[in-house]
Amino acid sequence: MPRDYNHLSREQLVEILQRRDLEANYGLVWERDEIEPEAAINHDYVGLRLDPALSCGPAPWQHLVIEGDNWDALRALAATHQGQVKLIYIDPPYNTGRRDFLYNDRWFEKTHRYRHSVWLEFMYKRLLLARELLAPDGAIFVSIDDNELFNLGLLMNKVFGEENFIANCIWQKAFAPKNSAQHFSDDHEYVLVYAANRELWRPNLLPRTEKQDRAFKNPDNDPRGPWTSGDLAARNFYSEGRYPITCPSGRIIEGPPAGSYWRVSKARFEELDRDGRIWWGKDGNNTPRIKRFLSEVKQGVVPQTLWTYEEVGHTQDAKKQLNEMLPMGRNADVFSTPKPLQLMERILRIGSQPGDLVLDFFAGSGTFGQAVLQLNAASPDAPPRRFILVSNREATAEEPEKNLCRDICAERLRRAIAKLGAHPTAGFAYAVAERIPRHRMVEKLPDALVWSFAQLAHDHPLTLFTRPLAQSRRGAHLLLYAPRASASAVRAVEAALANHAGPATLYTWSPDDYAHLAGRIVVRVPEALLAAFRQGTAGAARAVAQNNEVPVVGPAPASL
Ligand SMILES: C[S@@+](CC[C@H](N)C(=O)[O-])C[C@H]1O[C@@H](n2cnc3c(N)ncnc32)[C@H](O)[C@@H]1O
Repeated sequence: MPRDYNHLSREQLVEILQRRDLEANYGLVWERDEIEPEAAINHDYVGLRLDPALSCGPAPWQHLVIEGDNWDALRALAATHQGQVKLIYIDPPYNTGRRDFLYNDRWFEKTHRYRHSVWLEFMYKRLLLARELLAPDGAIFVSIDDNELFNLGLLMNKVFGEENFIANCIWQKAFAPKNSAQHFSDDHEYVLVYAANRELWRPNLLPRTEKQDRAFKNPDNDPRGPWTSGDLAARNFYSEGRYPITCPSGRIIEGPPAGSYWRVSKARFEELDRDGRIWWGKDGNNTPRIKRFLSEVKQGVVPQTLWTYEEVGHTQDAKKQLNEMLPMGRNADVFSTPKPLQLMERILRIGSQPGDLVLDFFAGSGTFGQAVLQLNAASPDAPPRRFILVSNREATAEEPEKNLCRDICAERLRRAIAKLGAHPTAGFAYAVAERIPRHRMVEKLPDALVWSFAQLAHDHPLTLFTRPLAQSRRGAHLLLYAPRASASAVRAVEAALANHAGPATLYTWSPDDYAHLAGRIVVRVPEALLAAFRQGTAGAARAVAQNNEVPVVGPAPASL
């Protein structure tokens, strides 16, 4: 709808024109002014409250499931995990217009005028926070379909930098064409990959498949084992790459085909032939080819961008896999958009290694977490990958009691752990993201939130808070939280430190009472938490402010 400018003063009109002159002319813009915004990034403090009843296995817990809006969860994690996550995978709402995208408690229909803008704003703020969490050599993988692919690509360029684009992988999600389609049968989706820094990130090679190994044969019973052969000629110019070759049969080949060159010099070719590395065909009369032995090729294969359902599963596989863990009978549609485990495994293999921290903040039914558990169980001697998952309740006015995170995501993981057998590191802590208004921080910050913050900030596995002193150990490091300095708390702290020779950090609200603990680090609560929260979210807050920038308008130029 055109705006009405008639009531505006000359100064106001000039201000509008000047704003327009400064607006970006190239790049992604969306209608931010028309959208009801979410609360500011550091409007309040967000802490994580562990729920022992919903956690799985005995503490200490290595993995973490967070129930809540990922807007809150990411703000909490920004205070404790800046630059630490090796791999982020997300599968956000695709904004199909079919009740898959909820923003500020409202579904966005296909006909909504600002639905792309709302989705972009929603994703922008979350991706900015995700960027803060990524390790310098980390990468983010994002599932998407045609509804928002082009917008997402531009948005990712804006947040992560066009120079950090790695790949747009095609996932073949359907195994048969949909003949009811009006135009095309839609058989694939995408996984967009961006590195935090393209120069620092490298994919892990994927294990060779049986099918790939089957290409290697041994028709001449070479003692070095199966091999395949490659062309001796290539189109790249090579100054020593043109010479005649005599086949064992006596036939003379005058040179490589027109416009191409042998890949190796004559001397090198003769050396390879003496070593039995040239294949002349069964009759010794073919154009020579170079043998490549299975035993000598790289241990894995570089990832390709085309992912077929034979390799990584399709959507029906994904539903079956969820149903195997959580048989839902007539409620089979309780969660309709899971991803296949094989797809998750592929992403985990390319983007992370044993021992890495990985995050999915649109975890839905928790497929990504199950894939991590399975990979860990398959290599019990390697350090486990650790996951953080964020899943929301999906509660709406019609279904106020719904709790997807508790009833589907965590429950699925609990059953997967039971099925995989007790692995000492398989358990997870279940936490709820809790907003604390700033004005309540000084006195009312619950001890449970302080303790989970301290453990996450120091990369300790999670345990529950205990009074008067909570303690945890990771390697040589001892972490303590004694909220107030009662006589019993001081005695407990002194006793814990007396038995500990390594580094130790104490969190407390009354640091002066522990001034006598020479050589130990004493951290002041709540200031340290607020500072970490502010610092963690600062980068994202700055970017949002710059993106929303309203230029300062000076006096109108006299010539106007
Ligand atoms: C496409 S599904 C993800 C499916 C998941 N990959 C799986 O395999 O189960 C997207 C999920 O993100 C959730 N979601 C949407 N907005 C969210 C938000 N602000 N915070 C947390 N989760 C959200 C949706 O409710 C839905 O469960």
